[in-house]
Amino acid sequence: MFKQLSHPQSRKDMKTVLSTSSLGAMMANLLDTVRTPGIDYVSGYDLKRFGSSWIHQVVVATQEEPHLLAKTSLELRAAAQEHHLIIAVDTRRNHRVIGCIALWHLGLDSYGRDWFELGTLWVDKDYRFHGTRHMPIADGLYRRILSDNLGMNILATTTNPAAIELGMRHGMQMISYQSLPESIHRATCVCPIAKTGTLDNMRCRVKDNTCRVRIPFATWLRLEKPHRTNWVHPIKVQASRS
Ligand SMILES: CC(C)(COP(=O)(O)OP(=O)(O)OC[C@H]1O[C@@H](n2cnc3c(N)ncnc32)[C@H](O)[C@@H]1OP(=O)(O)O)[C@@H](O)C(=O)NCCC(=O)NCCS
Repeated sequence: MFKQLSHPQSRKDMKTVLSTSSLGAMMANLLDTVRTPGIDYVSGYDLKRFGSSWIHQVVVATQEEPHLLAKTSLELRAAAQEHHLIIAVDTRRNHRVIGCIALWHLGLDSYGRDWFELGTLWVDKDYRFHGTRHMPIADGLYRRILSDNLGMNILATTTNPAAIELGMRHGMQMISYQSLPESIHRATCVCPIAKTGTLDNMRCRVKDNTCRVRIPFATWLRLEKPHRTNWVHPIKVQASRS
């Protein structure tokens, strides 16, 4: 074991296991009282006290953000009822809704296992890390949805480098789309031809290029540790070329 821990990747994996465990997440969540003061993360039954007022705000956000798939009130309400959605609210500003994250059911793989797609990740511009508040609210949302659902098979896809970096901070493992169970690969690749450049999404040009798929460490273990792909932030690539 000590020999194994001398390997940098094994040490990194061990750190990921600890930080993404229930205990690791609980401690980090406690720290959020200092890191994101005044921000509350609400899900499940607790969402009921907000009535439907949060739904409209999230619907509008999904319609306005180019990286997000538009969601309807019905879809959001159903995800909330399943305890698959978390919102962030600013308790100091009349519980204004300032962030959201959700898990969307994708389907079953050939072993009959359920898969979910992490999505509808949004933080109000003003409250983003590079907004005026400088608070890691997206981190708070991401950590909570993963730790509340450790036993579920989850994937996340995106072309947004900020979302990729965020996932990496929470132990997401970048793999190739081909490593996913085929039915799940097909279920997640539903982008329009304008984005993929093809009618057959299995041949999409941006896949594993600008569009990346990542899975939590626990899902990666259950998939029997598929090969991990490399990721370098496009800005760092540009800097190294100039
Ligand atoms: C994706 C999103 C939730 C991330 O919010 P955020 O983490 O608060 O971050 P910002 O967007 O302000 O900026 C991200 C930058 O801050 C950095 N950052 C954020 N939190 C950080 C932290 N805790 N520690 C260090 N760096 C951090 C990121 O690494 C990233 O750096 P980069 O600009 O060099 O890539 C937010 O940008 C958003 O709502 N975007 C619109 C919707 C969207 O695109 N969703 C993702 C769809 S997959």
